[in-house]
Amino acid sequence: MNILGIETSCDETAAAVVKDGKTVLSNVIISSLKEHKKYGGIIPEIASRRQLEYINLVAQKALKNAKLKLQNIDAVAVTNSPGLVGSLLVGISFARALSFAIDKPLVEVDHIKAHLYANFLFPVKDKKFESPVLPAIGLVVSGGHTSLYHIKKFFSFKLLGETRDDAAGEAFDKVARILELGYPGGPIIDRLSKQVEPSDIRFKSAELKDSFDFSFSGVKTAVLYHHREHKQEKNFSVINVCHAFQKSVIDILIKKSVLACQKFKTKTLVVGGGVAANSALRCCLTKEAQLNNINVCFPVTNLCMDNAAMIAGLGFHFVKKAKA
Ligand code: KG4
Ligand code: ZN
Repeated sequence: MNILGIETSCDETAAAVVKDGKTVLSNVIISSLKEHKKYGGIIPEIASRRQLEYINLVAQKALKNAKLKLQNIDAVAVTNSPGLVGSLLVGISFARALSFAIDKPLVEVDHIKAHLYANFLFPVKDKKFESPVLPAIGLVVSGGHTSLYHIKKFFSFKLLGETRDDAAGEAFDKVARILELGYPGGPIIDRLSKQVEPSDIRFKSAELKDSFDFSFSGVKTAVLYHHREHKQEKNFSVINVCHAFQKSVIDILIKKSVLACQKFKTKTLVVGGGVAANSALRCCLTKEAQLNNINVCFPVTNLCMDNAAMIAGLGFHFVKKAKA
């Protein structure tokens, strides 16, 4: 079954074709990110205007790259939430009109859960790929969300905890802004942190004991005060601050994910969202998971970011369920 996925929740206009919820036949993304950079964050009006311009083009390209015609599409899947209202409206209106025109079912998909589904997509070039096994613990770390789920089936996600304030990616972006590094902050902090030198700087993210919730606003504020107090000093190192901040975020993500696996006696951990591209998180979580006999999975980097393949992939299971 070929599903055409449409995703327009933030700055991206994306379309993809996925076969049987597994094989990514095409995955097209146009982002308006460059236009937002000078504002240090996404401007919803700019995002939705671009999406209106690009959506048809992107959908056509997804079909062309998959070497398919519209009549080969069995259903349309679209992100329905969460996201910027104007942006979601563009994708949903397009998908509804298309499904009506080709007389094929439309399914609406949650963006956050779809981030985790990216782990179940076959990277076309990876012939040895083995799909993770459910039940699993799912850790979503994106620009807007940080949540832990217990996933029993693709229609049964139980929320265990989420951030009480900033999302992990949002904290990366805000800290990069404080340090005047640019936007989006995650990839910049990731890159700079690799050049760390020995230093005493330490930050700590809130523990929120006995809860699977997260909080990152405290560590962000700690970076702000540290920067204000020390930035004029001769030996002040932005690199060391980045590294210490990043470590505090990934330490708590790792700790709570492993605890959730232990509590729910789950041997599979799937990670999704933009921050899942973070090299230190990938490396440290993989090591910690091995020590705890947990199989941890990350999507390939381009599927960590917002994309429509994850929407088409999860959408497949809804179409299948509706037909059963
Ligand atoms: O999942 P995503 O593409 O969009 C949302 O649904 O929010 O995530 C974007 C977020 C941004 O906050 C960005 O700074 C962060 O992911 N990000 C990273 C890295 N690459 C992207 N954070 C840490 N390390 C990275 N390498
Ligand atoms: Zn996302």
